Amino acid sequence: MAENVDPTSFINLARYPVHNIADPVTQALIARCRGELESQAFAVMDDFLTPEAVSLFWDESMSLSDLTARREKTRSAYLDTPDQEDTTWPEGHPRRQFFHTSWGVVADDLIPEGHGLRNLYAWDGLTAFFSEVLQVKPLYRHADRFQALNINVLGPGDEQAWHFDDMDFVVLLYLTTPDAGGELECASLVRTDDDPCYDKVAQAFDGSLPQLHRRPSVAGTLTIMRGNHSVHRVTPVEGATPRLTAVLAYDRVPDKYEGDAINIQMYGERIREKIEAGFNR
Ligand SMILES: [Fe+2]
Repeated sequence: MAENVDPTSFINLARYPVHNIADPVTQALIARCRGELESQAFAVMDDFLTPEAVSLFWDESMSLSDLTARREKTRSAYLDTPDQEDTTWPEGHPRRQFFHTSWGVVADDLIPEGHGLRNLYAWDGLTAFFSEVLQVKPLYRHADRFQALNINVLGPGDEQAWHFDDMDFVVLLYLTTPDAGGELECASLVRTDDDPCYDKVAQAFDGSLPQLHRRPSVAGTLTIMRGNHSVHRVTPVEGATPRLTAVLAYDRVPDKYEGDAINIQMYGERIREKIEAGFNR
């Protein structure tokens, strides 16, 4: 347990002095991250966590692994399910391609107060840093006590298929390094608000798109992602080491809650029981 531990002690402050926004090193980092978000839709900070934090977060996450809700879906990159298939599009069109996705998730309410990961997420300084990078002011941690902080668990063979995100930004903190696979593949900025650019999306799917970004998942790396214009996936995890990713959710408003039905669908029937028992979010 990491109760009363200063959350900045988890961060490689020598390289990333995010606790001091005014520091010229931090200002240069913010500029670099903004540039990466603009050019490739994600910004990467290798070795953001200290080795000790990686080890602690691994131990704490593995202690929660029995609580993982398994999820399996077949859906399009636009998050449609096969029963929503729109046959007015030609056969083989990206709108009519469906992919299998399987993963596990530990919901926010299951991550104890004393865990280092929770302490780090709860630290206002981290939110302030992301607010600067994303140029979203004010920026709030997601208010929903099921969705705010999650740990995604991809075991052997699990993958997250091609999709566009429905939120416009998210922060990912890789907690493990899979033996092989589990790579982020991102066709950066393939669409705009005005143009769906289906030809480029189709090229991403068949591997013929030039400039497809590929990033391995490495423990301790932090990634800030704007995934709503960039179709991306996580390739199947190979080997025994699971791919654990902390998903840190933020929003532009302080009181964003998801509907009960969505949370029950995402995290299972236990959510219904918890809500009915009067769980105070
Ligand atoms: Fe995504």
